[in-house]
Amino acid sequence: MTISIIGTGFVGVVSAAVFASFGHTVYGIDIDEKKIRMLQKAQPPFYEPNLAELLRETQQSNQLHFTTDYSVAIPQSEICIIAVGTPSGKDGSVDLTYVDAALTSLAEYLVPNQIIAIKSTVPPHAVDHVKSKLSELTKTPCYVATIPEFLREGSAVYDTLHPSRIVIGADQPEVFAKLEQLHKPLAAPVIKINPASAQMSKYAANAYLATRIMFANQLADLCETNGADVQEVLTAIGYDPRIGSHYWYPGLGYGGSCFPKDVRELAHYSRSVGAKHNLFNKIQDLNEERLSQLLASYSKWVGGWDGKTVAVLGLAFKPNTDDVREAPSTHIVPELLRQGARVYGYDPEASLLKFNIVPTEHFQQYREFESLAAAVQDADILLALIEWPIITSFDFGSVRKAGSKQWFIDARNQFDPKQVQDWGFLYRGVGRGRIDQ
Ligand code: UDX
Repeated sequence: MTISIIGTGFVGVVSAAVFASFGHTVYGIDIDEKKIRMLQKAQPPFYEPNLAELLRETQQSNQLHFTTDYSVAIPQSEICIIAVGTPSGKDGSVDLTYVDAALTSLAEYLVPNQIIAIKSTVPPHAVDHVKSKLSELTKTPCYVATIPEFLREGSAVYDTLHPSRIVIGADQPEVFAKLEQLHKPLAAPVIKINPASAQMSKYAANAYLATRIMFANQLADLCETNGADVQEVLTAIGYDPRIGSHYWYPGLGYGGSCFPKDVRELAHYSRSVGAKHNLFNKIQDLNEERLSQLLASYSKWVGGWDGKTVAVLGLAFKPNTDDVREAPSTHIVPELLRQGARVYGYDPEASLLKFNIVPTEHFQQYREFESLAAAVQDADILLALIEWPIITSFDFGSVRKAGSKQWFIDARNQFDPKQVQDWGFLYRGVGRGRIDQ
């Protein structure tokens, strides 16, 4: 089968490489020539484990092609997958500009009965928008379907090769059949539903997981007032099969390119259909407030940030990615600098310096290090933000400054409190006993 994937962002590139590895002929299309040139050399524009190898193999076997030319790719493709970005405004409204631009570019090359499958995350009513936009642009009959994506950054190749389910939203049996054939080699249940249900299922999955995280975070805050350890509480409730112990650890709140955006969009969508007071508004507000609240509480614990050197360990929003979108570091580092701290950043892949996140007036106070040991050696406070294995397995005892007071903030509960105290640090996790301030 020959397919086109329009948009070579995170989801587009990973999906293109995986579909090509199944033996399909895949065209990855983008208007960004620089990105296409990189991809043609099997260089992913972002860090993702195992992706470069897959890009190399599938291009060598001639299954995968990257191009800016719609006229070559679209007429040959049985399925055109839209995987462009759908940014959302502060109020959560979705901007479909890139979807519209992709439809405009492909419309003139469509041949009858092709399938336009939306992979970008869009609200349920966007399917009608796409259909009406296509009818304005072309007389060529085509089908519109949705195939939402559930992969996680950092394990995107693995997740795409081993999905928990494949969700196909369509209205016609022949469209289900073709999209099922596209995913054939995957050993996963195929859920065939209507297009709006498919889109809602994407929002529902992310909003549910975000709610779960927020629940753990709120429990953790309560534990700090009564001496309970939230890790013990989560273990105890996790034995109930209705609850389970997966995807269940508290921290500074969720970040990344999906949860904050999708929850905001679901909240906006709820308001737009009259549900002014809805759960999703609240979850997103709580998540946004959380970082500032915790930072204020940590500040009290360490006696203020002014004049202290803080090693911030983990700048990406999660391990195994260089993505800093809505990463805790992007809020915390500028705030610490504003409050007079010197900040030493460390991450195996991510950098804040590339993205204008460090305010220029505070450049002098900020440095990034290539080695973890170098980043922590002069620090008064160690702030372990992200659970990169290189951070969680590090022997911090070897860098402890003898004779001085040093604080260790374990923002993801990744360390054994006793071990950290044995190393000689003052330990603070999230929800791990009473905090008296
Ligand atoms: C998420 C969904 O998991 C994925 O199915 C969807 O397709 C895209 O959004 P991703 O954003 O890559 O994937 O990362 P994920 O590992 O789910 O983490 C999202 C955020 O939640 C991160 O900030 C992470 O640190 C946080 N998180 C996750 C928690 O705070 N606690 C947890 O228990 C799990």
